[in-house]
Amino acid sequence: MMLQGKVALVTGGRGGIGRAIVARFLREGATVYAADLSEEGSLAEHDDDGSRFIKMNVADEGVVRAAMGQVQTDCGKLDILVNAAGIEIEKTIEETTLEEWNQSFAVNCTGTFLTSKHALPLMREAAKSGNSASIINFGSYDGFIADPGLAAYCATKGAVHALTRAMACDHGPEGIRVNAICPGYIDTPMLQSFFTGEGSGGGGKSIDELQQAVRDVHPMRSYGTPEDIANLVNWLASDEARYASGQLWVLDGGLSAQVQQMKL
Ligand SMILES: NC(=O)c1ccc[n+]([C@@H]2O[C@H](COP(=O)([O-])OP(=O)(O)OC[C@H]3O[C@@H](n4cnc5c(N)ncnc54)[C@H](O)[C@@H]3O)[C@@H](O)[C@H]2O)c1
Repeated sequence: MMLQGKVALVTGGRGGIGRAIVARFLREGATVYAADLSEEGSLAEHDDDGSRFIKMNVADEGVVRAAMGQVQTDCGKLDILVNAAGIEIEKTIEETTLEEWNQSFAVNCTGTFLTSKHALPLMREAAKSGNSASIINFGSYDGFIADPGLAAYCATKGAVHALTRAMACDHGPEGIRVNAICPGYIDTPMLQSFFTGEGSGGGGKSIDELQQAVRDVHPMRSYGTPEDIANLVNWLASDEARYASGQLWVLDGGLSAQVQQMKL
């Protein structure tokens, strides 16, 4: 088991990707807190998958601070923080309200800032073991190249990429590694709402046709699963990745490696 003895907290831990990460960490022997908005329960109430559920809005500093206080009381350290909570507004800037813009940044960027900030004292404790602690943020290939109709989302993910590098520089000397995963199309509730939402630009196609068209533009001819992402997150969280920091890890079935196919 790769994470025996480690303590991990996964925000968005009840979402598509977050759930897969929580499940993988548990199988690897970690004590896992799953933090999310959407499950009833009080701080550190045990959930039946073996993780400890924490009801947390990542954009609320008081709630984040209290959650880290609970981890401190329970475990005294945090080896792994995964910032997977995220929202996606499917609009151009003209269609996006200021409230939607601010909400996108509040969850995707401010949430990453707040959880990391308040986790750092616990992560320094973990790093005293001689093994580095690991923060894994969620960027996106949308932070490098843009999907049409996702303006605020693309902007938040670009900001997360820059924040990841800055955090890696500042906290590497303390034994804390910081990386970002940049997924392509991963089959989760967020992707399904993209296909059914107005931002997908489906041009009258059925959802099945749209999904097939998206698969077809990938060199690997498929989109990814949450478990594909959890595999890389697990490695970055583990001591095998002791020399990996400050990087943006794209996992997209080769999508961003190719120019768009032209039918001449
Ligand atoms: N699915 C994809 O294709 C894809 C692609 C690129 C990047 N990502 C990123 O991966 C991460 C996980 O995405 P997913 O596909 O699992 O999405 P998802 O919608 O399935 O899960 C997101 C989770 O975040 C939680 N959340 C939202 N706002 C929150 C808040 N304020 N506080 C705490 N939790 C909150 C939701 O309740 C949900 O459980 C996100 O950061 C997303 O931007 C996903």
